[in-house]
Amino acid sequence: MQWSIDSGRGNRAVGQFATPDWVAQLLCSRLRTPPTIAADLGIGKGALSLALAERFPGVRIVGVENYSTPRRSQAAMRSEGITLVRRDVAAASFSPWFTKMYGKMDTIICNPPFTYIDNHPSIHQLLSSYRMRANRETKYQRLDLVFLAHAMKLLKSSGEMAFILPISAFSMSRSFTNLQAMVSHFGLQEIISLPRTLYQDAEVETAVLVFRPKSNANALDRFTVYAADSQGSLDKIGQFSCRALAQEFSPITHSEVARPNSLGELGGAIARGRHSSRALSHQGVSHFHTTSFQQYPNAEISFDRMSERNDHKIDAPAREGDILIPRVGTRCLGRAAIVVSGSQYISDCIFRISVPVAKRRKIWEFISSEAGSAWQLSLARGACAKFITQRDLLFASLPSTVR
Ligand SMILES: C[S@@+](CC[C@H](N)C(=O)[O-])C[C@H]1O[C@@H](n2cnc3c(N)ncnc32)[C@H](O)[C@@H]1O
Repeated sequence: MQWSIDSGRGNRAVGQFATPDWVAQLLCSRLRTPPTIAADLGIGKGALSLALAERFPGVRIVGVENYSTPRRSQAAMRSEGITLVRRDVAAASFSPWFTKMYGKMDTIICNPPFTYIDNHPSIHQLLSSYRMRANRETKYQRLDLVFLAHAMKLLKSSGEMAFILPISAFSMSRSFTNLQAMVSHFGLQEIISLPRTLYQDAEVETAVLVFRPKSNANALDRFTVYAADSQGSLDKIGQFSCRALAQEFSPITHSEVARPNSLGELGGAIARGRHSSRALSHQGVSHFHTTSFQQYPNAEISFDRMSERNDHKIDAPAREGDILIPRVGTRCLGRAAIVVSGSQYISDCIFRISVPVAKRRKIWEFISSEAGSAWQLSLARGACAKFITQRDLLFASLPSTVR
């Protein structure tokens, strides 16, 4: 199994996706302590290791890879003093072997393959030693979590590590135990959610997770969540506990929505824009953002009609009947607008609420009233950067007049 020679593209079946340079730099920028020795598990073409060598010149890096990478990449890594080791990280014997050869690591960086391997009692034991979700009976286990478990065994107690992981590995209700394990056994400190479009081919939502096992903060079962935009700027979302984060990311099931008197129960659907305002502006795409509320003379907005060609090209636009409210921003929360004609893309700071036609007038009258503005503000979370979650918006009770 080999990485293609000329392009950044590898073999998807074994999880070969090269990390974009800006993400590699972002990941390394979160590491605080200059390491003497570091490991990169699944080094591939070396994006993470090269960024680490740039951030901490003189660090000794051991890169482990099970498949052949282009010679040119290998030469570039060796010229930075990176030691390349051919080894299967999926083997249960990997971490004992590695520690015997190289000792324990100050830092571990990793973008593991987001794939599965056959279950085996030794793999089950490795995952369950950290209380990660590992069913003895299942046929397969997540390879990304196997990488994480091995990494933990290689790390000095004072060390730190940064991983790119798919959101599904830790924040769905079925993977909640993994999140708890990451907090209590790995010292999870930061989650930086990456733009959805990052690994388009893989169609997964990903995040950088930073672990500092010895940190005092994990005694509080709290970690900080950031959102990164495609320029690498971070927006601090707030501090979360495991439970609060699981609620924020986990899919909303029908039975949960069926709470009386909520937008969900009235048949409402909520979506946010996929792209940041900065990314849309950069591409010259006109869009509705939090700053747009003041730009229209009243709350009933007529957008230009989008050409059929552009419709749905980069996202689902807001269209006639949709109610728009801000998702973040202390100064703009509480505002609302309704689209009366045309369509327009929205930024990822805007929620688009679609409700059945029969209920629309009453819901709009409430959301655009002073009481509706206070209702929105009552849903806001976060200390400095206030934000509303999609789940809170769907579940919150509406006054009986709306029904
Ligand atoms: C998502 S890619 C990341 C590559 C590189 N570290 C980067 O960030 O650009 C995952 C890497 O893990 C390697 N890999 C997959 N299975 C492996 C295994 N069992 N042992 C070691 N490496 C493996 C793949 O070949 C690939 O290079």
